[in-house]
Amino acid sequence: MGYENIRVEKRGKVGLITLDRPKALNALNSALIAELGTALDGFDADERIGCVVITGSEKAFAAGADIKEMQPHNFASAYQTDLITPFDRVSRNRKPIIAAVAGYALGGGCELAMLCDFIIAADTAKFGQPEITLGVIPGAGGTQRLTRFVGKSKAMEMVLTGRMMDAEEAERSGLVSRIVPADDLLEEALKAADKIADFSLPVVMMAKESVDRAYETTLSEGVRFERRVFQALFALEDQNEGMTAFTEKRSPDFRNK
Ligand code: CAA
Repeated sequence: MGYENIRVEKRGKVGLITLDRPKALNALNSALIAELGTALDGFDADERIGCVVITGSEKAFAAGADIKEMQPHNFASAYQTDLITPFDRVSRNRKPIIAAVAGYALGGGCELAMLCDFIIAADTAKFGQPEITLGVIPGAGGTQRLTRFVGKSKAMEMVLTGRMMDAEEAERSGLVSRIVPADDLLEEALKAADKIADFSLPVVMMAKESVDRAYETTLSEGVRFERRVFQALFALEDQNEGMTAFTEKRSPDFRNK
């Protein structure tokens, strides 16, 4: 399909999605979100793809949901059109998604990054939930996910004041996994994605599902879930290959079985 608001490429076993509305700092309008969902569904269904990277431009990962598109809505139309709900398609993806963030990741842009499995930030990245300045609150999970990432005090301050966090603060508070120089961002994100895509895909998917459980259930249920997945993995040829390769002092050749 032809995309107008994103660019979609395959780099070996990695799916790369670049948000591409430069004139609006990649503001997430409904067309862009729909295209993103379609591209992600495509990569999820493509057995040659083992990991996905979502990135933006040097200036903005995404400066939020599209304010100009949202401005005319009233409650009934926001409810009926299911405004914001299409963002959920990102978290439905079962393969890992890395957000490679440079510049602004604000409002829905910050929420989109948090919907990914981890965030690699350029040293230019700026995160924030400025919705309060527009007379609304975050609507794509920001009040919930930011709080889980950085704790109540910092999340509350950011949501109530709309202030931005730079890359250093974002790393210190656990929002991003690491910071890289802006010029190296895409290369570093693709390197991490390549590494993941070389592992056994079902094992990678189960690892992702298990970590996600930590956010969705109690500790004892999560540990029980993890143990069952761990035991089930002994049914895969890849477990035997991985452990045999270790004992034979060679690299494993995972066949994703
Ligand atoms: N929606 C629509 N258009 C946007 C936009 C957004 N979120 N962010 C930027 N743009 C547009 C601007 O209107 C401008 O367009 P024009 O040239 O046609 O005027 C263009 O992008 C460039 O932006 P600026 O001139 O403002 O660039 P700047 O460098 O001076 O400032 C900025 C950058 C600080 C990010 C500023 O653009 C800004 O504050 N943007 C809005 C950020 C925001 O409030 N995001 C939250 C949106 S609400 C939301 O996301 C709800 C939710 O939870 C899902």
